[in-house]
Amino acid sequence: MHFPGVALITGAASGIGMATAKLFAKEGCRRLVLADIQTTSLNKTREEIQAEHKDVEVTAIPTDVTSESSVNSLVQSAVSTFGRIDYACNVAGTLIPGISTEYSLGQWDKQFSVNTRGMWLCQRAELTQMLKQEPIQSSDGRYPARGAIANVASMAGLRVYDNLPAYCASKYAIIGFTKSDGLHYAKHGIRVNAICPGVIKTPMLGDVPEEDDTNLDEMVSEMALKRPGQPEEVAECLVWITSGRASFVTATTLAPNGGKVTFFVVSHV
Ligand SMILES: NC(=O)c1ccc[n+]([C@@H]2O[C@H](COP(=O)([O-])OP(=O)(O)OC[C@H]3O[C@@H](n4cnc5c(N)ncnc54)[C@H](O)[C@@H]3O)[C@@H](O)[C@H]2O)c1
Repeated sequence: MHFPGVALITGAASGIGMATAKLFAKEGCRRLVLADIQTTSLNKTREEIQAEHKDVEVTAIPTDVTSESSVNSLVQSAVSTFGRIDYACNVAGTLIPGISTEYSLGQWDKQFSVNTRGMWLCQRAELTQMLKQEPIQSSDGRYPARGAIANVASMAGLRVYDNLPAYCASKYAIIGFTKSDGLHYAKHGIRVNAICPGVIKTPMLGDVPEEDDTNLDEMVSEMALKRPGQPEEVAECLVWITSGRASFVTATTLAPNGGKVTFFVVSHV
């Protein structure tokens, strides 16, 4: 793929975000901005990319996506380093499982603070920057693009799991603002989409305690491919959907979920 612009990836210290950052470099993006709250692991991702791709400029910016000032300063730093942001992948998120009657308000607030508020703060700051910049030529001579954003929601934003009310609600909300802003900013040449992965083998799954009744095996058994996905397989979707190759794709969801055998919610169009 052809990536003439600048990619920004949150959650780049681990899992899907790290895989996405590495794939952008492998696919020829030469200017990367990586963000995460885990500074040591974030720097490790940067070093690994630089070791493998000598011609790629990578900046790693410790960021707490729940903080407005931290997110705004991430975008400002990205722009002062590279001048613009073209492919923004908002991946940072957390999973706090639990049924409502055993869930504290603090857990609910944390779940929403990272997943929903954090992703919206990133999207808002990225849109604000993208509106200021001139479009660049898209890959393969297609339509010029002012910018593209991909938010990582989840299958839990398209259907419910009976033991993840807060996580599901936080991911449904992401799809709401993704589609709304996707429609609104299309006229400005900015695309906004959501990626909705199924069960993916990342450290996040380690956050689900055995006794939690989340039943990952059952979730995987509902997937037609009968295996969890790899973070690299989700990264492919993020890289494609923000690239010029997806120039006619906006305000929608893409679900790398191994094929759902059962799908309870059918009204998301
Ligand atoms: N793994 C799955 O099965 C799965 C399925 C569907 C959706 N998702 C979503 O994919 C995204 C990435 O998750 P993952 O599976 O790669 O998990 P992960 O735990 O490997 O990565 C999540 C990253 O987000 C970062 N992060 C958390 N809070 C942050 C904050 N306040 N500020 C900045 N960074 C923060 C973490 O430090 C971590 O590096 C999440 O949004 C998650 O909800 C994951």
